[in-house]
Amino acid sequence: MALERTISIIKPDAVAKNVIGQIYARFEQAGLKIVAAKMKQLSRQEAEGFYAVHRERPFFNALVEFMVSGPVMIQVLEGENAVAKNRELMGATNPKDAAPGTIRADFADSIDANAVHGSDSLENAAIEIAYFFPQTDVYAR
Ligand code: PPS
Repeated sequence: MALERTISIIKPDAVAKNVIGQIYARFEQAGLKIVAAKMKQLSRQEAEGFYAVHRERPFFNALVEFMVSGPVMIQVLEGENAVAKNRELMGATNPKDAAPGTIRADFADSIDANAVHGSDSLENAAIEIAYFFPQTDVYAR
């Protein structure tokens, strides 16, 4: 298995619930290392740019509105199979469909406030990491 890096974003709903530490513990218990992190209030422009691939989808404006509604916690996770492992920890997009014990099952309230984002492929992970972190702010550990 390959050592990978992926982006995780703890969304405004989960930051407001004060569960950053509980979510970080799940990453660590799964063998994922945090190699970059920052808390940030996204601007509308940053959120629109990040979700540009979804621009034509009916929920685009609601998604952007939600992502700028409060600070987010953005981290780069590193580990074996990090992209898939993070998606597994997150659970399904709609918390109603998320498996018990996943982050979304435990902390998300609805499909539009679903606690976390995770890159869906290694290719997108590289794009998303570069979107938020200059190379010098990601640390090999
Ligand atoms: S995924 O996880 O990318 O496969 O899911 P997808 O269904 O393609 O959704 C892409 C992102 O849009 C969010 N989403 C929504 N936001 C608001 N309202 C509705 N109805 C909705 N449906 C999907 C979903 O959480 C994904 O956001 P991220 O941040 O990538 O998880």
